[in-house]
Amino acid sequence: MNPEYFSALESCISGAFFSVNINSKKITHLSDQVWAVTGYSSEDLKKLDFEKIKELIHKDDINKIFSEINHIIKNKLEESVKVTFRLLTQEESWVWLEASIKSNGEHLFGYIQDVSENKGLELGYMNQSSHLMTLMNAIPGYVSWLKSDLTYIGVNESLSTVSGVTHEAFIGKPYGFLSLNVDEKTENKTKLWLKKFSDNKSEKSTQTETQIIGPFGTRHFLLSAAKYGDQDNIVLIGIDHTKLKELEKEVETEKARNIHQARMAALGEMASGIAHEINNPLQIIISVGDEIAKNPLFKKPGEMLVRAGDRIAKIVKGLKTFSRDGEQDPIETVLISNVLKETIDFAQVNFKKKDVLLTIEPYDETIDVECRSVQISQVIMNLFNNAIDAIEGLSEKWVKVSVKDLGRDIEIAVTDSGPGIPPEIAEKIMNPFFTTKSAGKGTGLGLSISTGILKAHHGVVGLDETSKNTRFYIRWPKLQPNSTSQKSYRD
Ligand SMILES: Nc1ncnc2c1ncn2[C@@H]1O[C@H](COP(=O)(O)OP(=O)(O)OP(=O)(O)O)[C@@H](O)[C@H]1O
Ligand SMILES: [Mg+2]
Repeated sequence: MNPEYFSALESCISGAFFSVNINSKKITHLSDQVWAVTGYSSEDLKKLDFEKIKELIHKDDINKIFSEINHIIKNKLEESVKVTFRLLTQEESWVWLEASIKSNGEHLFGYIQDVSENKGLELGYMNQSSHLMTLMNAIPGYVSWLKSDLTYIGVNESLSTVSGVTHEAFIGKPYGFLSLNVDEKTENKTKLWLKKFSDNKSEKSTQTETQIIGPFGTRHFLLSAAKYGDQDNIVLIGIDHTKLKELEKEVETEKARNIHQARMAALGEMASGIAHEINNPLQIIISVGDEIAKNPLFKKPGEMLVRAGDRIAKIVKGLKTFSRDGEQDPIETVLISNVLKETIDFAQVNFKKKDVLLTIEPYDETIDVECRSVQISQVIMNLFNNAIDAIEGLSEKWVKVSVKDLGRDIEIAVTDSGPGIPPEIAEKIMNPFFTTKSAGKGTGLGLSISTGILKAHHGVVGLDETSKNTRFYIRWPKLQPNSTSQKSYRD
């Protein structure tokens, strides 16, 4: 094209074209329009050497602009890349410029324009000295405002203090550039949430919750995002509500415990009433059975009567055990085999009724442990019932119990023929009131109460996510810290 035509065209637009030789770092072309943009004439600028031009760029933007330029040169990008930076004008004031740059390996080509007006709108509103900025700083949370491409326009003081990154250094950086020690899954989830919000033009505000795991423990955040302005910029507020979350959890757990205790108290009263009523006639049945068995003619039916009586006695005893809140019981030394046998005796009816094959893997039956045995029985009972419920519709129905001496700890595991629990459900099952069972069938308290019981035993309840079949385990130290345990072998 005729150079005159080209320069006439150049004068019709508000920005300026430039080209720079990469090796010599010399400006090879610069439109006269640069004067309108920067206050310097193109002749003056062309004469300046590279270091002098660098001095005109704001110190907080230098790294950003040169890392972009290196990136462009290295990758010979097809698409031009945009960078915004501040340049000191001849009047000694800062002007915000946006440069679109690309390279052919030999030259950098670009177009610069004054974007101070846009920036002024962005920054003017959110300027350090403005009352809005004061407001942002007064918010008891981390506030940032971003462009729709999720690059930072600014942040409040709290965010800049906690991250150790200056307000200026945030500007232009992409959301997520801060390493907050967040696990990748959480980080991606939050990024995706924000991107989805930005992309969805009809959505004006949204909220989510997230967690940050760091050296200070797990913190819970409420994230709230809203769009503003013509460009759909975003204000993002993160409020640390860890205390509230913990309090909520405590209240839930307390509520669950109260319900559990009230239920146990009512059940216990009923059970001891029933036990009392049954025990007297039962003793008569057993002693009559004994008498009958003495007659050789009726030996068999007599013994059957005694066995049936013993079985009823065991069930009644179990009923008393399982309907008692053992929280106030002292820690005792017990044979783990006794606890297990007693629980199985009581649970056997359920396994039979639901046609589930129960097997106990061989273990050392002489191991004794310190615990509140009533509570441990209740925990195992809940694991049994959960297993039975979970495999109800399966063709293969079995439950396996294993006992392992882990040295310091004892482990009891209950595995069922089910295929495991999907992660999205598994992450909630320990929460109080979480249940997948129909109303009236499950209260969702079993595992959370069990977690509390094991915690009081300095132990854990866990779901073994590596197992092919659904496998829950409980573990606790055989010797309880600070216990003044008494030996008691329950029979
Ligand atoms: N063995 C298992 N297989 C599959 N899912 C299970 C198993 N054990 C527990 N779950 C899941 O965990 C949820 C919570 O169990 P939890 O024992 O806390 O309460 P629940 O059994 O529903 O009610 P509750 O124990 O109060 O009667 C269950 O509803 C079920 O979805
Ligand atoms: Mg349960």
